[in-house]
Order: sequence, then structure tokens, then C-alpha cells
Amino acid sequence: MQEIKTEEIITLHLIFSSQMASTFTYNDENSLFNFVVKEGNGVKGLVDSGLTEVPDRYIQPPQHRINKLHIAESLKDMTIDLSELDGPNHDQVAKAITHAAETLGFFQVVNHGVPLELLESLKVVAHKFFAQPAEKKAVYLKGVSPSPMVKYGTSFVPEKEKALEWKDYVSMTYTNDGDAHNFWPNECKEVALEYIKTSTEMVKKLLQTLIGNLGVKADDSRLDELVGLKMVNMNFYPTCPNPEVTVGVGRHSDMGTLTVLLQDGIGGLYVKKGESASKEDEEWIEIPPIDGALVINVGDTLQILSNGRYKSAEHRVRTTSTESRVSVPIFNTPLPVVKIGPFPELVARDGVARYREVMFGEYMNNFFSNSHDGKKSLDFASA
Ligand code: OGA
Ligand code: NI
Repeated sequence: MQEIKTEEIITLHLIFSSQMASTFTYNDENSLFNFVVKEGNGVKGLVDSGLTEVPDRYIQPPQHRINKLHIAESLKDMTIDLSELDGPNHDQVAKAITHAAETLGFFQVVNHGVPLELLESLKVVAHKFFAQPAEKKAVYLKGVSPSPMVKYGTSFVPEKEKALEWKDYVSMTYTNDGDAHNFWPNECKEVALEYIKTSTEMVKKLLQTLIGNLGVKADDSRLDELVGLKMVNMNFYPTCPNPEVTVGVGRHSDMGTLTVLLQDGIGGLYVKKGESASKEDEEWIEIPPIDGALVINVGDTLQILSNGRYKSAEHRVRTTSTESRVSVPIFNTPLPVVKIGPFPELVARDGVARYREVMFGEYMNNFFSNSHDGKKSLDFASA
């Protein structure tokens, strides 16, 4: 057994409402892991216990830290008014969407069809869910959750991560209204369901526009298949005493077709600009919080379908010491049984298939069994 220094034996006693006491030593790996991950206290529980310094397990190696020096100015001019897609400026707006998907892989939309009051409610219920005592949330931990469609957890794949992410989440997969009502957490099910319903048309329209601009014909049922599975996550990023050495979410791309994301006013979402020769030359751009707007980003699936023309965006989230942050993404992905591969028209035109055909379910399994590592997830489908 390794000796523990006296100053490291900061033992915290947390009294749960059940009157059970849980004790952990915050630089003892097992003890910390049990408290945060297995017992479901999350990062929120850690912060509530009053810690003043992040535990070692949260300290990122230097190359993963978010270095302010290499962060470019935030882009203010990439907000697209979606109502214009139905008006005389259709072509111009479609072009702007396509251009964003081909370059940064990120843009923001307004007049998106999701009511503004609903956006406010989503942020409120996200805070409400995480404000609950740990044992209320822990019923949705993997392995005990009453439904595989609801999962509460922390970080991304804690078992495989050297350094944990400073984030708790609850993930709700949509199968049908009945299941959502029966299994999703009471605190958030109504608003989360409404969010899915009111954003679905926008997602289809965006996808139709993007696929259309590739010169590819996709009928309605193919479009439906490509966004047939929907997962709403509520992410909670508690305040962090040492934001400079941690990450909220490490560099990654999303696995699906298109992600719709609501963020609050705190900021901290960064996207990588273009390809760079080395990690030192990377440029990251902040996606600025815009009241009433939704963030859209291209996922791996759309990069694969478009034979590499649309860019699945590499992004990450910084932590802050001032206020806890919430975000609410909807991951629109193909159904697991759907085969994804570059559209044949594009392969014919490009003379090369940059990706092989895979079942989306396999792609998803691979995605969830590896820790976040930039765009490595795409290797699974490389030709
Ligand atoms: C994600 C993600 C960004 C954010 O959940 O995949 O990238 O702003 N979230 O929380
Ligand atoms: Ni993401």
C-alpha cells in the first residue's frame, strides 16, 4: 500500500437524507471513484462536499488542457435565420448552411421552431434535476436504471479514462411517447419530450438542405431513417476550483448526423478550426452563447454519408470557477439497424469511397466503448 501524506487525507463525511454516511478520501483513487461514479454522487457531490482543489484524477495532461492563448476570437456572424429557408432568400440561406457544414461544422440558428419559453424551461429543469440529492439521481445509474433508455452518470467512460471529465449528465433516449412518460425522470420528461417534438422538423429540413446540396436524392423515408434515433442529454458542469487543469468535456466529435444543442449564457464551448500541423498550432473558436439561438453541429455520420465533404466538428468544453453551466443537446442519429456509408452518387463522382459501410449500431457501440479522443471515432469506418 502506498503511503498517503497527511495533507492528502482530507476525509469527507457526507450525510445523506437516509442517514447513511459515505466517506471518501479524495486523492485515493478507489475511494473517489466509488463516491463519484459508482454511488452516483457525481462531480456535483464532490463540489457540494466543499473541496477547494480538484482531485488528481481530474487533472488533465498538458496537451488536453484548454489553453487560452490558442483560442481565437469567437465568431459572431454565423447565425442563420431558418425562417428564411422558406422565403425568397432560400438559396442564399441554404448556401450559408452548406458552407458552415463544409468548414467549421458548427453554426447557430434562430427562428428554429422551438419556442423560446421552452428553451428557458429546459435550462430550469436541468438545474432542478441535478439539484436533487444523489440518491434520487442514482436510481438512473447504469445497471440499476428502470429502463435502458435513461442513464444518469458522470464523465464519459469513467472506467477507461485516465483523467475524468468535470461533468454529470442524464441521457434520455426516445422510443415512443409512452416510454418517455413511463421511464424518463419526472423533473424533466415533459419539457425534454416537447424539445424533441418541436425540433424534429428543423433537423429534417437542415438535413434535406445539406443532402440536397450534395446533389444527392434522398426521399422522406431515408431522411427519417438517418435521424430516426434521438437522445436528449442534460449536461451539468459544476463550478470548478481549478478550471485551467480540467475539462468539462474533452476533445471529441459527436457520432450522429446532426446535433442540436442548447447552451446557457456561461460559455465555454469551443470548436477546432480546420486541420493543423501540430497541437501547438491548433486554433479553437468559442461558440458564443446567443439568447434564443440553438447550436447545430455536424456529426460523424454526416461526414461519412457525404464522403468527407461535411466536417464532423471536433469540440470540447472548458470549466469555470464562477457558475455552474447546463447544456441540453439532442443527438439525432440513424436507427441502429441502418447502414451508413458514403452516398453512391458521391463515390462515383469522387472516384473513391473514403469510408466503408457500417451498421450504425456497431458504430455507436464502438463510440461508447472508447474515451473521448478527438476524431478517432471516425477510424472505425475508415475505408
Ligand atoms: C456533448 C457536447 C457541449 C456542451 O454533450 O457532446 O459536446 O456545450 N456538449 O455541453
Ligand atoms: Ni459533443
